[in-house]
Amino acid sequence: MLERILLLGSGGREHALAKALKRSASCETLWCCPGNPGIWELAERVDLDFLNSSAVIQWCNQHKPTLIVIGPEQPLAAGISDALRREGFTVFGPSQAAARLESSKAFAKAFMGRHNIPTAQYREFTDRDSAREYVAVHSLPVVIKYDGLAAGKGVVVAQTTAEAIEAVDNMFDGAYGTDGVVIESFLEGVEASIFAVTDGTHYVTLAPSHDHKRVGDGNTGKNTGGMGAVAPSPRVSNETLTKVCTTIIEPTIRGMAEEGNPFVGCLYCGVMIDKEGNPSVVEFNARFGDPETQSVMQVIRADVARLFASAARGALDSASITSVCEGASACVVLASAGYPDSYAKGKMITGIQEASSLEGVDVYHAGTSIVSADMTSADRQIQNHDAHGDSSVLVTSGGRVLGVTAHASTLVEAIQRANAACALITFEGKYHRTDIGIDA
Ligand code: AMP
Ligand code: GLY
Repeated sequence: MLERILLLGSGGREHALAKALKRSASCETLWCCPGNPGIWELAERVDLDFLNSSAVIQWCNQHKPTLIVIGPEQPLAAGISDALRREGFTVFGPSQAAARLESSKAFAKAFMGRHNIPTAQYREFTDRDSAREYVAVHSLPVVIKYDGLAAGKGVVVAQTTAEAIEAVDNMFDGAYGTDGVVIESFLEGVEASIFAVTDGTHYVTLAPSHDHKRVGDGNTGKNTGGMGAVAPSPRVSNETLTKVCTTIIEPTIRGMAEEGNPFVGCLYCGVMIDKEGNPSVVEFNARFGDPETQSVMQVIRADVARLFASAARGALDSASITSVCEGASACVVLASAGYPDSYAKGKMITGIQEASSLEGVDVYHAGTSIVSADMTSADRQIQNHDAHGDSSVLVTSGGRVLGVTAHASTLVEAIQRANAACALITFEGKYHRTDIGIDA
């Protein structure tokens, strides 16, 4: 059937999803709410706040999308998928209850305990003094996690007891809220991201990927949302992928269904792989990863619209996939200097067209805006978007600005292409890692 699709989100992940949906034979119409300047070249723009469920429902009642794809975690945690399903819409994205696998670390850890899913030993604390006492005697390093959504910034891997106590204090001082903390043992190994598209019972895994979370080359500096990614990840052998399926994905999908919260959408398994190739869960997410999706969508050959629609309708159609992985892809994030701390906005961007014309290269927008060319740089900082027309220019508006993503037959070539494309793009304060995929 031909799909009329509404995609929610505005990041690089959604730009990659928009491109994959748009090239699907079964995609008739694509809208994006709110989208970004890159997405608006592919999809009709819906200018609404996607966290406002009544506004989204009203729009859907008027435009009758046959499929709604939810990109980011916030609308999932806010229960937008439930509100849309109650109105009879078909949604690719889990219910609020199922999205707790991501939105509550305490829920996820207890769930893994109930279903014997491998993960680090942990304890949960809602009281600061007990948490302080516990970390004071815990072996090092120790991992302290805020029990809620924190945009990838709610985790501290403490190397010393003093750092651990400081992390506990900071979390209870309410930088993100005061829901409590999870304290867990440090897992050794290499990390990878495995995405399972599921209808609540059946699933398919997409190309294994990994991202690079630290801001600096050689995995130094602060944690970020992700500075780059590759797919397929050479860290994940076929044997390890099979273990991820049998020891993590299958018990998770089965357990969620048994507990009355079937998971429909993309189950993101963030795993640590030990020396023997055995995976343990570092985190679950209830959505696609960013920037991993930029690479995963470049290597898949599928009618992605049909794949998502079939999962959302409870009858996963794996025949919609020709190949989950053809060739290899690398995504290098161009960020604003200063990210993940404060950074300037409103810096003019040039060279995207030149970069995109290189073979295999897609430049995904993440933190960009369109402003009128005669605005001063100071004006641009406060302006968010709009002002289309001849005199408009593209400027930076976020920490992660662009995901320069390249496809090739081998990963080494893909990395070279992505780096060559990065060199063609300029904006003041442009910063990127130079070692994405290098450990590969
Ligand atoms: P999370 O938000 O749970 O994915 O944590 C962010 C990052 O912290 C992960 O990608 C890991 O690099 C690191 N991390 C989290 N938990 C652990 C753990 N138990 N052992 C080692 N590293 C961890
Ligand atoms: N790249 C990490 C995430 O999407 O959570």
